[in-house]
Amino acid sequence: MIKKGIILAGGLGTRMSPLTKAVNKQLLPLYDKPLIYYPLSVLMLAGIKNILIIVNKGQLSQFRKILPEKNNLGINIHYKEQSKPRGLPDAFLIGKNFIGKDNVALILGDNFFYGQNFSSKLKKSVKLKYGAQVYLHPVNNPNLYGVATTNKKNKILKIIEKPKKTKSNLAVTGIYFFDNNVIDLSKTLKPSKRNELEIVDLLNKYKKKGKLKAEFIGRGGAWLDTGNIEDFYNTSNFVAAIENRQGLKIACLEEIAFVNKWIEKKDILNAIKFYGNCNYSKYLKRFLN
Ligand code: G1P
Repeated sequence: MIKKGIILAGGLGTRMSPLTKAVNKQLLPLYDKPLIYYPLSVLMLAGIKNILIIVNKGQLSQFRKILPEKNNLGINIHYKEQSKPRGLPDAFLIGKNFIGKDNVALILGDNFFYGQNFSSKLKKSVKLKYGAQVYLHPVNNPNLYGVATTNKKNKILKIIEKPKKTKSNLAVTGIYFFDNNVIDLSKTLKPSKRNELEIVDLLNKYKKKGKLKAEFIGRGGAWLDTGNIEDFYNTSNFVAAIENRQGLKIACLEEIAFVNKWIEKKDILNAIKFYGNCNYSKYLKRFLN
């Protein structure tokens, strides 16, 4: 059972500048919550309580204001700073001590997932004992992502990072599940042309050993991008449309923690005090009633 998860919330967010000059991208508002609430909610829905958040050097205090180590969510938050972006697998080198002898999930701090059966799929993913598992989802612009070609049995044949030309439209999304070998395998990676350790190289190492499994978010689910300003606002509008129509929030962390039985009523009352008089607090009050 995977009980540990890493959120990679470093990066310079250059494509979102000047918004990201003073504030980490993961703290920008995706509709009514900081962006990082969404990937954090995914880990919590998977049942993961031990969470390492990797942030840029100098940005720790920004994150602690909204997600302190001692929180009302019944989860253990740890932080590590990254001096400069060195690619996604760097998360496993930075997080070596946090991971210890366990298996681990990694989610990118700017990835947005939504879908009816997604939580139950996640609960299956955390049962991973050996190997690695990725989630694939079709996109219109696969050349921006890691792309997987699969056979008829949905077995991954190969994964290429941002291919110029590809026949596959299946992107490798930003949530990954790994066995403990991920630490040692990450140590063997060499920087790519863009001078970063590539997650795709890591996945291909698992693939070579026949230990890479593909899962699918499924047609009814959404995996949305927040990479550039246009996509960021489209995703924000998606959240607004769903929340306002249904009156139910996406990624309300306290609600998830309560349903998971990690916190009690008093913790939600504390959260309401912490957030102050806002719509999010009103939602929590309504939830309690
Ligand atoms: C990274 C990975 C890529 C993956 C994507 C998902 O891309 O390298 O394989 O498909 O995240 O968001 P990057 O954020 O470095 O462009």
